[in-house]
Amino acid sequence: RQIIAVVPAAGVGSRMQADKPKQYLRIYGKTILEHTVGALLSYPPVKRVILAVAENDPYLRRLPLARDSRIQIVSGGETRAESVLNGLKAIENPERIQVLVHDAARPCITHEDLDKLLRVTDENGAILALPAVDTIKTSDVRQQIIRTEDRNFIWLAQTPQFFRADVLLRALEQALAQGFNITDEASAMELAGFRPHLVTGRSDNIKVTRPEDLALAEFYLSQKNK
Ligand code: CTP
Ligand code: MG
Repeated sequence: RQIIAVVPAAGVGSRMQADKPKQYLRIYGKTILEHTVGALLSYPPVKRVILAVAENDPYLRRLPLARDSRIQIVSGGETRAESVLNGLKAIENPERIQVLVHDAARPCITHEDLDKLLRVTDENGAILALPAVDTIKTSDVRQQIIRTEDRNFIWLAQTPQFFRADVLLRALEQALAQGFNITDEASAMELAGFRPHLVTGRSDNIKVTRPEDLALAEFYLSQKNK
């Protein structure tokens, strides 16, 4: 079967507070984006990576990635969901393709995790996720607790998220047209009536978000290459 990865990489990284978007910060001499795309392209089932980058991005063109024939570049959008949608629209014959959507900011993804995810074959699709370890509170707008959730049924969604490309494209278009705030692909699928599977991932598949995450990602990447 044909698998294409769509990698949203058009964010500005405001929480990282660096001088450039976080996907272009370097760890062991390579940008986070190169670690992420490298992990996907070295995984045999992935034939192609569609990268959504900001329209005025000056950084990508300086990387060898920009000239890799297995990589297709599309323009990102205002939100992550719109960046992903632009990537999905670039897929020809989406009814024949399965898509892995993976954040540029998650460089520590392992092939073992991808193997686990690809084992799910039904059209609900699947995502990597972690069972919550902390107790989960829901608050009101004044930051006072109104409820404690049943932790046994709480999962933290990661990426990759794995779907049939045509099904996801329709679901995402619908959800955005209806004005939902979509922060991952599974939520669009849920709104379309699907029940994506939760595949237990690893805690080292972090989304590099805040400055302190850089040291963590560096550590996890060093473990991975042993
Ligand atoms: N992303 C994107 N297009 C956007 C916003 C985000 O492609 N308009 C991408 C980011 O580049 C990142 C992934 O979506 O790889 C996850 O988003 P996040 O971690 O929130 O990254 P940023 O939006 O860049 O960071 P911040 O929210 O701190 O500004
Ligand atoms: Mg963001």
